[in-house]
Amino acid sequence: MLPGEGRFLTAAHKELSGCAATLGKVNAVPLGMPSVPRAAEESTRPDERALIDRFGRIATDLRVSVTDRCNLRCSYCMPAEGLDWLPGADLLSGAELSRLIAIAVRELGVTEIRFTGGEPLLRKDIIDVIGAAAQLDPRPRMSLTTNGLRLPELAGALEAAGLDRVNVSLDTLRADRFFTITRRNRLDKVLDGMAAAAAAGLTPVKVNAVLMRGVNEDEAVPLLEYCLDQGYELRFIEQMPLDPQHAWDRDRMVTAAEILDMLGAAFELTPHPAPRGGAPAERWVVDGGRGSVGVIASVTQPFCAACDRTRLTADGQIRSCLFARTETDLRGPLREGADDAAISALWRNAMWGKAAGHGIDDAGFAQPDRPMSAIGG
Ligand code: 5AD
Ligand code: SF4
Repeated sequence: MLPGEGRFLTAAHKELSGCAATLGKVNAVPLGMPSVPRAAEESTRPDERALIDRFGRIATDLRVSVTDRCNLRCSYCMPAEGLDWLPGADLLSGAELSRLIAIAVRELGVTEIRFTGGEPLLRKDIIDVIGAAAQLDPRPRMSLTTNGLRLPELAGALEAAGLDRVNVSLDTLRADRFFTITRRNRLDKVLDGMAAAAAAGLTPVKVNAVLMRGVNEDEAVPLLEYCLDQGYELRFIEQMPLDPQHAWDRDRMVTAAEILDMLGAAFELTPHPAPRGGAPAERWVVDGGRGSVGVIASVTQPFCAACDRTRLTADGQIRSCLFARTETDLRGPLREGADDAAISALWRNAMWGKAAGHGIDDAGFAQPDRPMSAIGG
């Protein structure tokens, strides 16, 4: 059981969970549900402090997007000219972010926080926000997903503020391709950033890679070689339909099965002994213990049944899923003086309305209006 989790669980909820998924053990929640979530049936929600949903899941992992801006322009994420950034007045201030994080930890049982963006290290007060979260009791585990560019100067301060580790996005080791994919010439800086994170103790450094057909699909093996040599934990993520251009095409996606075939031809892969729990990555031990690799089959083998996430956007909206088509505004009530109990109630009701699955395979699937950079990965 996770620290601090116990006091949020009641018999009522455990009973509720029996209908679809069981706690600690993942059973199938029937997917193929309509992708548009049903309205939250607030009246049927048991009186429970934790972020429970109608399918027996409990959200303990908070993803906080602190900005939608970025200093790269990855082609699968943004057009070259960037996006219409959220207006400054809509963004949560550092104090507002810290207040919502405190409510999540103290009132709602969140034990894990991931800071995301856009690029979270573009936010000038990120060290203060992390430092404030590190003072909470119980102290949440904290990680940050970054493109790595600002890690050379910030890794030490992030670690000192209380950050536990980082996930760095890296899709290629070739400078020409890095430019093609991100529209910037910064590969060396990213590699320096990963080394700086490791040196500062932000470990394990995890590396996220998205393979795209005809772009970088031949780099599965070189990326893993590099990460094994450096002591980083590589995870491949199947590309999801979250691009602002709406150009994603399932048939062009490089699947987890293909990635494992490519890796299996070059390395000996054995299933990782660690229990998977709610973790999306299926992990493998490489060459009998040289390191490990994960594959996140977000599309071909959705892990929605084990999802333990709740998301907060940089403009103060709760999203229960990356693919949610509805959001719950916390910024308005926060600025109108709502107390912690009122904010907690809004957050709990938002989670109660969470859909069973992302529904990418449903005939009626519609991409969310927000692109990935404004939701947070
Ligand atoms: N599908 C899968 N992963 C994505 N990322 C960004 N867009 C997508 C997508 N459409 C990844 C980035 C980064 C993390 C935040 O999510 O590469 O590692
Ligand atoms: Fe920036 Fe990440 Fe989007 Fe690339 S994928 S443009 S690094 S937010």
